[in-house]
Amino acid sequence: MNNGRNAKDTLDCVYTMQIIVKKRLRYSRPYLIIFTVIVSVFFLSKCMNPEKEKQKESDAVTTQGDTVTFADFAGSAACVNCHKDIYKTHLNTAHFRTSAEASGTTILGNFHKGKNSYSFGDNVVVAMEKRDSGYYQVEYVDGFEKRARRIDITVGSGTMGQSTLSWQNDHLFQMPITYFSAANEWSNSPGFPNRAVFNRVITSRCLECHSTFVETISPPGKEPEQYDRTKFIYGVDCEKCHGAAAEHVRFQTAHPDDTTGKFILNPGTFTRQQKLDLCALCHGGRLQKTKPSFQYIPGKNLWDYFLVDTLPPHPEFIDVHGNQYGLLRASKCFKMSDMTCNSCHDVHRNEKGKTALFSQRCMSCHSDVSALGGAMHRKLGGQVKINCVDCHMPLKPSRAISVFLPGEKVPTAAQIRSHFIK
Ligand code: HEC
Ligand code: HEC
Ligand code: HEC
Ligand code: HEC
Ligand code: HEC
Ligand code: HEC
Ligand code: HEC
Repeated sequence: MNNGRNAKDTLDCVYTMQIIVKKRLRYSRPYLIIFTVIVSVFFLSKCMNPEKEKQKESDAVTTQGDTVTFADFAGSAACVNCHKDIYKTHLNTAHFRTSAEASGTTILGNFHKGKNSYSFGDNVVVAMEKRDSGYYQVEYVDGFEKRARRIDITVGSGTMGQSTLSWQNDHLFQMPITYFSAANEWSNSPGFPNRAVFNRVITSRCLECHSTFVETISPPGKEPEQYDRTKFIYGVDCEKCHGAAAEHVRFQTAHPDDTTGKFILNPGTFTRQQKLDLCALCHGGRLQKTKPSFQYIPGKNLWDYFLVDTLPPHPEFIDVHGNQYGLLRASKCFKMSDMTCNSCHDVHRNEKGKTALFSQRCMSCHSDVSALGGAMHRKLGGQVKINCVDCHMPLKPSRAISVFLPGEKVPTAAQIRSHFIK
């Protein structure tokens, strides 16, 4: 059963932050003042920082205009002819698969009778059912169908789990039941109360992290937003990190002999902070936005779009879910080198579970592990090189992603790699 404390804990969850955001009057005056002060302090500190000059210089890499519309995107299928290898490996990444139009192939979880339901106590059951017009979550009260909502969009590659969304006119709503991979079970959706709730509306921030673009049709600042469902680019795809690329595709197609890329962003040429900002857009924890979603363009300063802490909070207070940037920033590795996320991750490939490969990347800086001393390393001898990760970046339970599995009274937490390296 869900108790009061748990409901409060789960309110902390990243899933529900948009609700908290919504309740506050965004862009209100006191907020703007605090924001201006923080930004000024930050800029003042930057004035004393040589990094500032570098930052300015590579602002020039931003070739795109300031606002992006659906027409500026080409879609990753347009990249395959010229960037075949990257295109192919990227299809297997969690980024690419993090959202999709719902279908028999994208929806996870068991729809077979006996395995297809989640019970909220004695009389309320939600069943996952395939019907003629698609896949549904259906609420039954005392055995009678109360409502059925079609699953239209999947969110989550299934590494940890998958939530689903349903269109109601131009609004999107999250479904009450989520698939939880570790247990191969249906659970109540993270952050949801322990009853069948179908009215949790999806704001643009959720989609900003889990998709490449969706065109918002409601006026700026109005929440919950309405979207144009025909102008939706699913997955964290090429153009999320490289900028909208229709112009690049047009140019390169028209100039096949030109071997330099035009009208495209390459994060490889960014400053360290610009690289980190790109990943922190979605891996930087709960950020309070100061501009509408989908306006940030890679290469821009994240703090022009969100309130960003200049100093990392204590790692004990950072949840392992969704804030790899916060945890990494607190680590000695990060502070004493020019490390970025790309020091260890090749985002074009799915490298999940390749521990030996990650350990090699550790050793690109810690080349002489045996000389590091310490009883533990000595005891392991040559073995130490195979897996730095489980000792120094252990899996930790997430406070934000914890769900109730069928019949269980204690919530089960997702286990996520800690990026506080110690
Ligand atoms: C008609 C061929 C063509 C198509 C289609 C194409 N590109 Fe390119 N792209 C190129 C060429 C040529 C270059 C320059 C050589 C290189 O870096 O590979 C390039 C370079 C790039 C670069 C590196 C830019 C740099 O400054 O180093 C990125 C990133 C990129 N393309 C992304 C994309 C994405 C994303 C798509 C699909 C939306 C795409 N390209 C579609 C031909 C193409
Ligand atoms: C638009 C938001 C967004 C951006 C930008 C982004 N990520 Fe992600 N990333 C996600 C989401 C969402 C997931 C979870 C995908 C899933 O499993 O459904 C994820 C998952 C990952 C994973 C786990 C992959 C796995 O196999 O489980 C890694 C590693 C990662 N991101 C690294 C990066 C790095 C490095 C950058 C910056 C270059 C970056 N991400 C930029 C949203 C983003
Ligand atoms: C600030 C960015 C952000 C927002 C907002 C956000 N997520 Fe996520 N979400 C992530 C990242 C990053 C991951 C994976 C890595 C992690 O857990 O640290 C993730 C993981 C997930 C997963 C598990 C995917 C898997 O299988 O690994 C689901 C499901 C999910 N999110 C659903 C949602 C839904 C639904 C919303 C909105 C109601 C939402 N998230 C809002 C960034 C975000
Ligand atoms: C999560 C962010 C992200 C996504 C998604 C992404 N890239 Fe990249 N890409 C990067 C980063 C970061 C670099 C720079 C790597 C470096 O230099 O360390 C890069 C570099 C490149 C380059 C430059 C040459 C090279 O091989 O490094 C090309 C071309 C490219 N990406 C194409 C693509 C295409 C095509 C897709 C989609 C199929 C894609 N990228 C998806 C982040 C991303
Ligand atoms: C970009 C270079 C770089 C990479 C990659 C790197 N580190 Fe480090 N790491 C450092 C530096 C610099 C320090 C601080 C000096 C030292 O202790 O050697 C450090 C410190 C450490 C420490 C001591 C932390 C403390 O609080 O005392 C550990 C443990 C560590 N690294 C483990 C790892 C592991 C495990 C990996 C791979 C997952 C890794 N490092 C990858 C540069 C790096
Ligand atoms: C020192 C190396 C290192 C750096 C730097 C690093 N990571 Fe990781 N990351 C790892 C390792 C190792 C894993 C675990 C991979 C596995 O076991 O599959 C991981 C896993 C992840 C995951 C999946 C977490 C999970 O348990 O599902 C995400 C998301 C992620 N990293 C994002 C990032 C982001 C964003 C950055 C930059 C802020 C970053 N990483 C920087 C080494 C690193
Ligand atoms: C079985 C667990 C284990 C493995 C595997 C392991 N370490 Fe360690 N490491 C430790 C412990 C425990 C310490 C603390 C010092 C000690 O051994 O007493 C440590 C210390 C360190 C330090 C800090 C040393 C110092 O003098 O401050 C670094 C850096 C480090 N490890 C890097 C690595 C790298 C890189 C790898 C993989 C090539 C690795 N470790 C593999 C357990 C491990």
